[in-house]
Amino acid sequence: MKRETRIDMVERAFELLDNKDTTRVDDIYLSPVASYTCKDWLALEEDILFKNYPLLAAFSCDLPKAGDFITNDDAGVPLLIVRDKEGGINAFYNTCRHRGAKLANGCGRAQTGLTCPYHAWTYDFTGDLKVLPDQVSFPGVDKAEHGLVKLPVIEKYGMIWVCPTAGKDFDIDIQLGGLDKGLIEDLQSYQFEDYHPYAQRRLHCKMNWKLMLDTFLEPYHFAPLHPTTVGPLLYHNLCLLDTYGQNLREAVIRKSIEKLRDQPKESWDIVPDSALVYLLFPNAGLVMQRDHVELWRSYPIPGKPNECIVQMDYYIPEPAETQSAKDHWERNMDLAVRTVLEEDIPGVEGIQIGLSSGAISHSTFGRNEPALIHFQREVAKAIGRA
Ligand code: FES
Ligand SMILES: [Fe+2]
Repeated sequence: MKRETRIDMVERAFELLDNKDTTRVDDIYLSPVASYTCKDWLALEEDILFKNYPLLAAFSCDLPKAGDFITNDDAGVPLLIVRDKEGGINAFYNTCRHRGAKLANGCGRAQTGLTCPYHAWTYDFTGDLKVLPDQVSFPGVDKAEHGLVKLPVIEKYGMIWVCPTAGKDFDIDIQLGGLDKGLIEDLQSYQFEDYHPYAQRRLHCKMNWKLMLDTFLEPYHFAPLHPTTVGPLLYHNLCLLDTYGQNLREAVIRKSIEKLRDQPKESWDIVPDSALVYLLFPNAGLVMQRDHVELWRSYPIPGKPNECIVQMDYYIPEPAETQSAKDHWERNMDLAVRTVLEEDIPGVEGIQIGLSSGAISHSTFGRNEPALIHFQREVAKAIGRA
């Protein structure tokens, strides 16, 4: 984040605090319950949002060395991402060209190439087929034409985006706001390429995939839902919002910001005294905390509007090598994860039951929930249901 933005956001926060105010939009927003419960609505989201958009697939630091790979089936296609020997990043369908077996599972570091576990066809890290055992049995099969099927991928700002449809090339800067460079400047400044993956959690939740992201998009629930965890640390019902195309940055403010009032304005910095929530459209919530970053991604389960897969990745600025460092991060992560697992998720799963019951026709988003409104509106627009 640019220096002047860091100062400006503190100023905006103080102004709202002094006026006992928050960021409000002009009117309430009625969000149709169908957006959380209807199979047709979900089918549009799957077809449009999860096939045509670049999805944040990893941080660069998840794949630091040649041969490092990760796999992911959550976006509806089997995905394989591999770092090659030149340091480039490659994304493929995780599908062998022989008879379609999965080349890899989970994540790891391949030594010399990617060998299919079924009959040992072997590909290099750029996807070229290098070894075809008993080639005489495959007359006319040209190795040069049987490389892995590539998916569009871009690595930038320490992050890796993949579009899960072959041939759908994209410009990530356009998706991140186009001419408005504010979001890009923020992402660039954090230098995520220097972070280290610390932990990962994968959850199967009984809620629509959007509800998981919604939970990060308003601080109106802090005092009632989080009275003893993060509630005491953060101001209730106070947020700053900036939007960048379909994406957004929402700052919720730590009470520790008060100390800045006695310090010269030039030294102000919003980052340590807030939690900055970036919604990277369509399905990634990046939470920039004062000392670490959390990535929460939510994926629909095909045909099931009331279930989702959530993956949380927790990244830290230095590797946790000593026992005391590990203890520190374990405690630190426990607060974040416990808050979401024990408070947000049960609350939101309750919302899903309520919405699925047919009791109400729409959710009513208040003027004080502008990030929620932006996200829902952008989803509805993108799938032609606005
Ligand atoms: S399916 Fe991969 S080598 Fe046969
Ligand atoms: Fe919460």
